[in-house]
Amino acid sequence: MAAVVAAASACATSLSLSSAGCQGPAVTATQRAAATKRLEAFNSEIWRKCAFSSNSTVTTRTKISGVGGIARATAVKDSPTRPSSLVGESGGSEKKRVMILGGDGYCGWATALHLSKKGHEVAIVDSLVRRLFDEQLGTQTLTPIASLQKRVKKWKDVSGNSLDVYIGDICEFGFLEHAVKSFEPDTVVHFGEQRSAPYSMMDRDRAVFTQHNNVIGTLNVLFAIKEFAPDCHLVKLGTMGEYGTPNIDIEEGFITITHNGRTDTLPYPKQASSFYHLSKVHDSHNLAFACKAWGLRATDLNQGVVYGVHTAETAMDEMLINRLDYDGVFGTALNRFCVQAAVGHPLTVYGKGGQTRGYLDIRDTVRCLELAILNPAKTGEFRVFNQFTEQFSVNDLAKLVTKAGEKLGIEVKTSHVENPRVEAEEHYYNAKHSKLVELGLEPHLLGDALLDSLLNVAVKYKDRVDFEQILPAVSWKKTGTKPKTVKPSGL
Ligand SMILES: NC(=O)c1ccc[n+]([C@@H]2O[C@H](COP(=O)([O-])OP(=O)(O)OC[C@H]3O[C@@H](n4cnc5c(N)ncnc54)[C@H](O)[C@@H]3O)[C@@H](O)[C@H]2O)c1
Repeated sequence: MAAVVAAASACATSLSLSSAGCQGPAVTATQRAAATKRLEAFNSEIWRKCAFSSNSTVTTRTKISGVGGIARATAVKDSPTRPSSLVGESGGSEKKRVMILGGDGYCGWATALHLSKKGHEVAIVDSLVRRLFDEQLGTQTLTPIASLQKRVKKWKDVSGNSLDVYIGDICEFGFLEHAVKSFEPDTVVHFGEQRSAPYSMMDRDRAVFTQHNNVIGTLNVLFAIKEFAPDCHLVKLGTMGEYGTPNIDIEEGFITITHNGRTDTLPYPKQASSFYHLSKVHDSHNLAFACKAWGLRATDLNQGVVYGVHTAETAMDEMLINRLDYDGVFGTALNRFCVQAAVGHPLTVYGKGGQTRGYLDIRDTVRCLELAILNPAKTGEFRVFNQFTEQFSVNDLAKLVTKAGEKLGIEVKTSHVENPRVEAEEHYYNAKHSKLVELGLEPHLLGDALLDSLLNVAVKYKDRVDFEQILPAVSWKKTGTKPKTVKPSGL
């Protein structure tokens, strides 16, 4: 039995409940004691839930040591399985051993099931910190998601396929080393980051947490691949937000520039608009450098805003349902609008609403990942794909949701609220996105069917909506003030 003990966490990655979840005046000793008790209960619950067997040959046990509110883990794994043969549905494509970092999250869970269904051997690595953010912020996903352990067991029941599980923080190199050595991936898909721009802009603690979690986590992944799986293909989730909104066309990763008579192809300029987006920019540079210096192979997927909840696999059983965030911190534009429409809340368009971005259906996210995995980057290659299918302004989305609501007999109103972000509200936007289509992506374009389905999901679970979480509560300009949505339950 191999055991790896996670190193003591650096304080920069810790969020104590006292700093992470307080509004207004300082926390009293009684409140702090209550919070600590809750955290301990939360961690011991994770310990209890993680002592499970996902299939007959693999046992993953974890020990969580609560450090200031972020779950730290020690992983112990018996008898790692190797597939003797893999037979999938993707028609003769090579079967891969795919490790999915962040596999309990919105994109990661859907991708894990999709790849597993296609016959690939899949391991999920996750610290479960996303669930802890909900605890800290007093929010919850619209859809009631089961624990990771229950989800994995249900997936085995409905598909017959096992998923390996490693619970731990990729910022802990010992944990990551154990996971990589034990599973021996040929592909690592990296979704495992703090992904909310508003969360990163709340205060110093969360800005530091976001950049440490994302940049150090990714650096650890690069070192783990270099040391223990040098031929492994890293597929890393970046974001279209890395580019900002330049007044010229956005290329896929690189631009050829002629300057003072000389020409070169250079990384496309990055103009990130939050500490979260900046963490992704730094990740991209680290990836490019590691490919050049060590001959690693990596694909940076600059993903647009993802919408939708169901994929073919997550729809197979209620217990497999994906998360759907609607709150002002983690909710993203179209998903939020559908939930707002379902509960009769005016659609919250920030400022003028001309902000234009790339969007894609979650069913295309999982397919893009599959295409990138099946067509890996070459040794030493750092490539960039812009992963979205259509671009919309916020006003476009509001109009589409209003129209779809009318068809379902829901009266939808729109309200222009003060923009909490620092961003252009009317601007040029034209981003290229042809590389994944060239690899075979057939996009699910946003249409009535998807909007109907999303609105129906929102209506089904509307009793779970907390109206206080809907309005934006984090201001880019007033970073450091405590957002009104932060109200740790139990304090
Ligand atoms: N959702 C979108 O619209 C969107 C758009 C563009 C890019 N992305 C990128 O895609 C990725 C996945 O996004 P998502 O919406 O699924 O986010 P998510 O928050 O739902 O999932 C991220 C998962 O990673 C885990 N995680 C975070 N830090 C970790 C760590 N240090 N160690 C182990 N696990 C860790 C979390 O617990 C969570 O389960 C992110 O990198 C995000 O930046 C998402």
